[in-house]
Amino acid sequence: MLYQAPRGTSDILPEEQAYWRFIEQKVAESAQLYGYERIDTPAFEDTKLFARSVGEDTDIVTKEMYTFEDRGKSSLTLRPEGTASVCRAYLEHGLHNQPQPVKLYYIASIFRYERPQAGRYRQHYQFGYEAIGEGDPALDGEVIDLAWRFFADMNLRRLTLQLNSIGCKQCRPNYVDSLKSYYVGRALELCPECQTRLKRNPLRLLDCKQAGCQKVAAAAPKSVDYLCNECAGHFNQLKRYLELLKLPFNVNHQLVRGLDYYTRTVFEIQPEAGGSQSTLAGGGRYDDLIGELGGKPTPAIGFAAGMERLILNLKEQKVAIPPLPKPRVFIACLGDEAKETATKLAAELRGAGVGVIAAMGDKSLKAQLRQANSLGVRYAVIIGEEEVRAGTAVLRDMGSAEQKSVAVGELQGLLK
Ligand code: HAM
Repeated sequence: MLYQAPRGTSDILPEEQAYWRFIEQKVAESAQLYGYERIDTPAFEDTKLFARSVGEDTDIVTKEMYTFEDRGKSSLTLRPEGTASVCRAYLEHGLHNQPQPVKLYYIASIFRYERPQAGRYRQHYQFGYEAIGEGDPALDGEVIDLAWRFFADMNLRRLTLQLNSIGCKQCRPNYVDSLKSYYVGRALELCPECQTRLKRNPLRLLDCKQAGCQKVAAAAPKSVDYLCNECAGHFNQLKRYLELLKLPFNVNHQLVRGLDYYTRTVFEIQPEAGGSQSTLAGGGRYDDLIGELGGKPTPAIGFAAGMERLILNLKEQKVAIPPLPKPRVFIACLGDEAKETATKLAAELRGAGVGVIAAMGDKSLKAQLRQANSLGVRYAVIIGEEEVRAGTAVLRDMGSAEQKSVAVGELQGLLK
């Protein structure tokens, strides 16, 4: 084959589209339930926006961004996540002047140069929800409720809700210090990548997937033991709300997330069996981000979920998806005059809102009906020379194979 889709990208063929449309519809419905409005941002942004937001030392920024210089010598990056762009738009368009929190959702393609494998791609799609301008832990509860309800309404089972608090600018440095002291004595037990993390991004030591590193992480100091009073109070209130909402959360001391902007609450929704490599959705608070991007201090929280991973899970759990509507009528014809009648009839029916597939070329009637059959239409309308003369058509029910002769003028009423 001369050309193939780039590694880690895929085509979404027609047979897959029902999943995508179904999810998009559910995303919009839950946005409406919780009062979120849609935002679309550009697929690329100033590189500095992502370096600043996601964090200079994260895997995403150091290894995974698709960064290029355009002809005007600006450094641009294909978005490796959605939150930074939404915050940039919030500031750029003065959304802080609207009643807070401003609640926005998106469905967007995301680009990360990762090692492709099942559920991990270089271009994938995320839907995400961001609530900006409110620090109330009740909002954390509401956002987590939205995420959990979304997957429950999709009829996905065997999911877990992982929760942690990683503190704030005040209390986290203490925690990171004690984490470092704990790890320094154990550096030799760590994988080479974690040896670098120890210097550059110690929090990430906690979620390394290597068995040796996991063992060390299991006994590491816990962030919740280092929270300042405000962060501890916030976390306790959040847990209270989650209990009220009957959300079955599990406090996971190793949950730290791969982006640097998080403060306090972090959470993920994971399939019971798959673990964090197959995380369906992740998010948390990012109370400092808007400030770091040049705005007034503005608390915020959100999450995003991967569409491809969701579809993989829907398929694994055999969740039925409603099929997309298709034309229900096929018009078959034999001979030039019949073709003219068929062409006019197809246009009239479509004008009346009836979807029609018209036979093309000069296939035999048998071949045309075979085509109608494989298209799965409900009715075939057959027009031959005799029908042209009589001003009629044969209406065939493709399910029962029953046929009757009908005046062409009556077809529209019957098929509607
Ligand atoms: P994230 O955890 O990096 O968070 O990505 C969110 C979700 O996108 C993941 O849970 C996963 O389902 C999916 N995902 C991530 N990378 C890939 C990939 N390479 N291939 C397929 N699916 C993938 C964020 O991006 C944050 N912006 C989420 C957020 C919103 N936090 C606050 N607001």
